[in-house]
Amino acid sequence: MDKFIFHIQRFDGEKKWLQRYELPYEPGKTVLWALTTIKDDLDPTLNFTSACRHAICGSCGIKVNGHSFLSCKTSLDELVARFKTTALTFEPMGNFDVVRDLVIDWKPKMEKMKKVNPWLSPASHGSKSDGFIQSKEEADAIAKPTDCILCGACASECNQLDVNDGSYLDPFIFNKAYRFLVDSRDNAPDARLKPVVENGLWKCLHCNECVTQCPKGIPLTDQIAYLRQRSMENGERNNQGARHAYAFHDDVRSKGRLNEMMLPVKTDGVVKTVTKKIPFAYRMIAKGKINPFHFPKKIDGIEGVRKIYSENEKERV
Ligand code: SF4
Ligand code: SF4
Ligand code: FES
Repeated sequence: MDKFIFHIQRFDGEKKWLQRYELPYEPGKTVLWALTTIKDDLDPTLNFTSACRHAICGSCGIKVNGHSFLSCKTSLDELVARFKTTALTFEPMGNFDVVRDLVIDWKPKMEKMKKVNPWLSPASHGSKSDGFIQSKEEADAIAKPTDCILCGACASECNQLDVNDGSYLDPFIFNKAYRFLVDSRDNAPDARLKPVVENGLWKCLHCNECVTQCPKGIPLTDQIAYLRQRSMENGERNNQGARHAYAFHDDVRSKGRLNEMMLPVKTDGVVKTVTKKIPFAYRMIAKGKINPFHFPKKIDGIEGVRKIYSENEKERV
């Protein structure tokens, strides 16, 4: 290969277009090198953001061939190997408003983040004079979520944000809520759990795209699962997601399998099921997808299933 070809999405505030640039191939270079070289040598009007060049500040995220990367950390050779082409398309991160070219607007995201009160609400055992003493385990609990550099790659990849009306919290905001919830110095579980439940906690699609592209390896979907569990323990049970989870739990505990006919009733209530789900159910029955006369019997070995539940509950007490 003798050259790179870049198609970069431009935006002047009104119109968008793809602009083509070429650079001679050089081994071992990063996406940020390409952007900087294009700006310095070919086109000073190109806009993008970067600062630390060491995967610390989170300011240089862009999409390359549809996936989100930190441009300072991502090598062009890796991308060429992955996409099997030297022609790469650079676009701004998805699910952000675009200011110019590859520059995105973080202000609405920071406003949204305030919903989970992203600051420490000190527990009573600390004081200004003595501070807070944390054990190693307590400090370890917040180490990983604190690694987030707010690059936005998780939000850019999020399939729920793609289709949501804007209320769904970005994955990095769930991470922020989690980070304070598990901090031994914090004492405001309601301030994290109520807003996450009200802003889509149960709407996560489990696609794992956020985890796949996070440059810091933050286990965002594990955190979402934890937030769901803690929200139910905290009394946030009268919502569709929690009711659905309890319906699963109760069915499997009682019979070892789901009663799919009753699942919508337990999740959405009788009225909503009758008005919204019955037409859908009729279509499912007509296509042979469900059998309305199938009442699941207990599976063989149900005692073993119940024992697993009991042991699990003992561990959690
Ligand atoms: S797993 Fe959930 S939060 Fe992560 S990208 Fe998918 S929908 Fe978004
Ligand atoms: S969670 Fe990961 S991908 Fe999301 S903003 Fe933080 S560092 Fe970036
Ligand atoms: S320039 Fe700071 S993370 Fe890339």
